[in-house]
Amino acid sequence: MDKIKSLTGMLDLYDNGDKTNLSAKLFYLEKKIRDIFLSYKLNEIRTPILEDTNLFIRSVGGASDIVNKEIYSFNDRNDKGIALRPEGTASVIRAIIEKKLDQTNHKLWYMGPMWRYERPQKGRYRQFNQAGVEILGIPEGMPEFEMISIVCSIISEFKLQNCTIKINHLGTQKNKESFCNALIKFLEPFKESLDKKDLQRLKKNPLRVLDTKNNETQNILREAPSIKEFIDSSAINLLNSIQNNFSDICNIEIDYSLVRGLDYYSGFVFEAVSSELGAQDSFLGGGRYDRLCAKLGGKDLPSIGMAIGLERFAELIELKDNLVKLVSFLSVTGNLEPKAYKIAHQLRSLNEDIILDVHLSDSSLKAKLRKANKNNADYAIIIGDEELKNNTAVIKPLKNELEEQLTVSIDDLYSFFKSI
Ligand code: HAM
Repeated sequence: MDKIKSLTGMLDLYDNGDKTNLSAKLFYLEKKIRDIFLSYKLNEIRTPILEDTNLFIRSVGGASDIVNKEIYSFNDRNDKGIALRPEGTASVIRAIIEKKLDQTNHKLWYMGPMWRYERPQKGRYRQFNQAGVEILGIPEGMPEFEMISIVCSIISEFKLQNCTIKINHLGTQKNKESFCNALIKFLEPFKESLDKKDLQRLKKNPLRVLDTKNNETQNILREAPSIKEFIDSSAINLLNSIQNNFSDICNIEIDYSLVRGLDYYSGFVFEAVSSELGAQDSFLGGGRYDRLCAKLGGKDLPSIGMAIGLERFAELIELKDNLVKLVSFLSVTGNLEPKAYKIAHQLRSLNEDIILDVHLSDSSLKAKLRKANKNNADYAIIIGDEELKNNTAVIKPLKNELEEQLTVSIDDLYSFFKSI
């Protein structure tokens, strides 16, 4: 019979104990990033993975690539158009409006899978995970610093090298319109040289032409007007101030050609890129979106946010050997004796920083020790018939050759376990 395969661009993740394994890295990343978010007193928000398709058309934008050709949308049994979320911001704002919380400030985080029907390649999947932050209700100023501080904390925590935070400011709506008009005027004589994709962008959302991957268009754009000439001095001061205040912690570059692929942005925008990532070099992106809440039917709620692409981020980190001590618990009494299992249970409650791996198979001691060594365990605790009878256990160090193997009473085993 034909085997059923997973869908293109959707990964099965399985932690096989190998430290280079994506699953192991994601698990570690999610835990660390969650801790960083909590240290900024952000509150978690979980929204459904399915939403009304119109939510994304009205927020991310009907002209954006995400809505135009990447959205996973279909009709449900009631013929209602629903979509797998391609990002988290729109859902967060929808939820805040629905809960009538759009008059107050919020500092929120979320983590979870997103879906975009993109052409899969290294660092680009159809199902991928994001960890995001949204700070709602506070106008431009302090939140921009808080956001860059969070990004710097994450980059520093993982000791990432070779990465840059690019920042830009899209100005007011009026600034943006004047710049777009200037760009359209500038590109008019070059229309014949633009490819189909860039021509379409020029028509629907001219700013996005700046994001072109076409070399010829990139050359033409070298002489194009810069947004710097259209934004207010307060916007330029903000960019300079962020760069001056954080550049001793992270590499920050003002990039006046940085535009983001989602329509809801206004004002400050940013992206973090790494030269270690290849074509998909952006592992994090965000910006201010002051008009989104009102556009979705809520109050005026000035907001800023960002999301990290966890699979791309995972490419940048290396896991160290055993982050916590691993102890292998080997009962060699044939089937695991309930009494031995009870001892293992007690041990776990004594030291939460240790992983206790109870070997459940009834293989030989030799085979169990081989497995413990393969798993890189620090100690083996061995309980056989003799030990059960005498109420003792053997502690066998597996890594430190200078430490001796000991036979101890169960009480002493408990004390030893607490002290590891
Ligand atoms: P975004 O730039 O579309 O922004 O996505 C954020 C990050 O998600 C990217 O920098 C990238 O690392 C990762 N990512 C995007 N698409 C894929 C893919 N197909 N495969 C793997 N990783 C991917 C947003 O999603 C905004 N919601 C961020 C935001 C929050 N802005 C304000 N608040």
